[in-house]
Amino acid sequence: MSATLLDGERVAGRIKMQLADRAGRLAAEGRPIGLGTILVGDDGPSARYVAMKHADCAEVGVVSYHEHLPANATQVEVETLVDAMNADERIHSILVQLPLPEGINEAEVLLRVDPAKDVDGLHPTNLGRLVMGAPGPLPCTPAGIVELLADYGVPVEGRHVVIIGRGLTIGRPLALLLALKRPGCNAAVTVVHTAVADLGAITRTGDVVVAAAGRAGLVTADMIRPGAAVVGAGTSWSGKRLLSDVDEAVADVAGWITPRLGGVGPMTRAMLVRNAVLAAEKVR
Ligand code: GUN
Repeated sequence: MSATLLDGERVAGRIKMQLADRAGRLAAEGRPIGLGTILVGDDGPSARYVAMKHADCAEVGVVSYHEHLPANATQVEVETLVDAMNADERIHSILVQLPLPEGINEAEVLLRVDPAKDVDGLHPTNLGRLVMGAPGPLPCTPAGIVELLADYGVPVEGRHVVIIGRGLTIGRPLALLLALKRPGCNAAVTVVHTAVADLGAITRTGDVVVAAAGRAGLVTADMIRPGAAVVGAGTSWSGKRLLSDVDEAVADVAGWITPRLGGVGPMTRAMLVRNAVLAAEKVR
């Protein structure tokens, strides 16, 4: 392997240390930061993700208030819980873990979250702020990817970033963020997906390639220009093993690459904690 590893654990650790100072200042004023989390159903990976988010919050001094509804919960039950957290002054931000079980209208649930408490940055008001380049909570995985690339000095500004995937949590908001005229962004962005003809012809023009499709091994070494940076943000599961969209052999041609574990995931969670701290700091 010749690529430099983009160590998200290390960068997230530094960010969380700074956030712990800020959380400590609020706690000292008698205003501990509260994050409400909602998990619906019994999806194993989702439960593990939420548990990891709780652990990160505890590390920084953010108090988690967790609610777990069964898989057969109704739309009204989920929305009632969101309403209760919207009204709860101890809770400064809310996380609804996605995906929600079939039968629940995800968009309606996300719309229900008070935009000021939207820790994911996925409420239309906050996505609209992102489109405008106005301040607001940024979607966590996109923000984490930008921070990770910046920490390693990977050139992004004025370069071509190819994003594979157009999902709500990663691909679409990442494209918006990277195109903004701001430090660490300001890129030429192309968004593609798995059904695009000759994907490799496009990815080979990328200085940075972000795989966010959720298809194991989608990005192979022949699809990467030697020296390019490759970020594996999409994951899928084979039993209990977490698989990356990026084939291991890509590390032999890339200049920088995220590890299968400890790359984007810890950065996503650090950005969630950052949004939680920012939301609480805004409440006076
Ligand atoms: N499920 C997978 N990624 C995410 C995310 O970024 N936020 C939420 N709420 N759920 C997710």
